[in-house]
Amino acid sequence: MDRRQILVTSALPYVNAGIHLGYMVEALQTDFWLRFQRLRGHEVRYFCGDDTHGTATMLRAQREGREPEALLDEMKAAHIADLNAFDVVHDNFSSTHTPANEALVGEFWSALREQGCVAERDVTQFFDPEAGIFLADRFIIGGCPKCESPDQYGDSCANCGATYEPTELIDPKSAISGAPPEERSHRHLFVELEPFHEFLDEWTQAPGRMPPETANWLKGTFLADALRDWDISRPAPYFGIEIPDAPGNYFYVWLDAPIGYIAATKEWCDETGESLDRWWRNPDCEIHHFIGKDIAYFHTLFWPAMLKTAGFQLPKTVHVHGFLTVNGEKMSKRTGTAVLARTYLDHLSPEFLRYYYASKLSAKVDDIDMNLDEFVAKVNSDLVGKVVNLASRTARFVKGEGLPAYPNAKDDGLFAAGAALSDEIAEAYEARDSNKAMRLIMALADRANEFVEARAPWTLKKDESKQEELREVCAIALNLFRQITVYLAPVLPRFAEESSRLLGLEGETRWEDASSPVEGGEVAKFKHLMERVDPEKVQAMLDASRAGWEASEAEAAAATGSTDEAFDGEPLEAEITIDDFVKVDLRVVEIVEAKSVPKANKLLELTLSLGGGETRTVFAGIKKAYKPEDLVGRMTVMVANLAPRKMKFGLSEGMVLAAGPGDSDIYILSPDSGAKPGQRIR
Ligand code: 2FM
Ligand code: ZN
Repeated sequence: MDRRQILVTSALPYVNAGIHLGYMVEALQTDFWLRFQRLRGHEVRYFCGDDTHGTATMLRAQREGREPEALLDEMKAAHIADLNAFDVVHDNFSSTHTPANEALVGEFWSALREQGCVAERDVTQFFDPEAGIFLADRFIIGGCPKCESPDQYGDSCANCGATYEPTELIDPKSAISGAPPEERSHRHLFVELEPFHEFLDEWTQAPGRMPPETANWLKGTFLADALRDWDISRPAPYFGIEIPDAPGNYFYVWLDAPIGYIAATKEWCDETGESLDRWWRNPDCEIHHFIGKDIAYFHTLFWPAMLKTAGFQLPKTVHVHGFLTVNGEKMSKRTGTAVLARTYLDHLSPEFLRYYYASKLSAKVDDIDMNLDEFVAKVNSDLVGKVVNLASRTARFVKGEGLPAYPNAKDDGLFAAGAALSDEIAEAYEARDSNKAMRLIMALADRANEFVEARAPWTLKKDESKQEELREVCAIALNLFRQITVYLAPVLPRFAEESSRLLGLEGETRWEDASSPVEGGEVAKFKHLMERVDPEKVQAMLDASRAGWEASEAEAAAATGSTDEAFDGEPLEAEITIDDFVKVDLRVVEIVEAKSVPKANKLLELTLSLGGGETRTVFAGIKKAYKPEDLVGRMTVMVANLAPRKMKFGLSEGMVLAAGPGDSDIYILSPDSGAKPGQRIR
């Protein structure tokens, strides 16, 4: 087999957010694939970095009162630490905000200009007169023109799914200052893509270039019509790279982001004395991008057009994956399922996620669902129950001994059968079908366990006359364990290392190691490889995740002054005396029952305990904000001496206290822990 030269990238994560479990799908899928290639002996390099430019970074740095660079350094260190903790290690994890990237962007720009690919024209856009900036669609909010739902973004409605122009919003306002935006016109620069149409028709449809789903989607959508020009300039102020021949204008973040792949390579080349051309201008070097389906359009239309213009090597393959859902739903901050990598690591072992994702991912672009019950069950049954078990039940009987020559004739053909699967497992990894690879490997583990079960080394151990057989059975089990861990090495590199250590082997693990048994190695003490996944830790992770988001949202709200906005919207009531105040009897209560009122849109019926067997029934307009089952057991505060009020659905005997304008935007109060039902609030 020829030694391939392979350059691999994962999409550059945005600098503004922490690494989360959605990004880990991509990072791990990339890592499985490239570790497999390395195991096969190929020359593989992996580059990535932070995607830093754009309005969001600028605004965040302003809000935090620091230079963007300080923010960038901090986030980059955090991203690297999180990824490394999952055993994802790059040859260089850089950033798009580097001299190397600026120089390369300049090179691309000159090429685009020289080859006449740039057009100019005026664009009318919303402008925030208070903040003094043009507003991207995401920074404009207003009522949906279709369903009239309030507070929707400028490009699409989260309520009804409609897409529209920001100018169509009802009462639009700037999400930055709250001011009504004005329409203003500014000269923009465009890259013309239509001249690349024919080239892209061919390039995107080449076999193996990208998943067929993506190629077909491009063909049926963008490539079916003339390709629209791409607006690549943004007027100042913008955090980005200034356009050399259009001062006061900056490159749109999506122009400089993918060039960051090359810039990260360039920095590594400068560091190691390698040549950039050997990696990016060399038809013998395979370039592989791993991305999510949402950014396929940038990587399969703009990016190849730009690479072609600037004379760089085009990607051999763009590997596209789907989104991650958790328990069947879009990840949500409110339920805690939008889990940061760091929060996961605080509670659970990285190997669990590596294996679970490997078992779910295939070459398809379909979304993958992380079902948390399945996560626990799969890791426990496959990794702990099948793989680790194989070694933990046998190694101790031969500790300190050299392994006997492999008793080929006595293993029921298991090792040879495993070795015969080498090509099929390799093909699955190559096609990034790790789901298939895991199934094939676990079938081997099942057979190996059946063998150990049937030979019962623990029984042999007790019979003096069977010590030779015991050694043979253990040698077989440990070699099967070794074979399995070599096959699993792209996914679980630490397992492969442990099997080498256990069997006294030196040197790097190679794919071929799965095809020949080990002889003579001295068996070391078995080190515990993995705990079972504790479902309580999964719950603790979700709880911590939800609490973390709540805290950061409260912080962000405080920082953006949205509390001022609430304050402005509702001026204070007329002054009262303390005597007025004490007339209102506020009490701590426990919500002991909560039911939906079937015919009412907004009402929940709450039974509130004041302690000592005293309860009150209250109808509260909080149905859109809370699920009844989430309220039971919570403490809150009620007005206990409000005159009862007869409502259509029954008698309401008081009022619970809550803040917020209404609908889903309602927050009931909670006392600090320790408060008891019935206690008065003063
Ligand atoms: O969608 C994203 O998360 C982008 N930050 C990906 C950029 S990938 C590349 F082109 F830089
Ligand atoms: Zn709508």
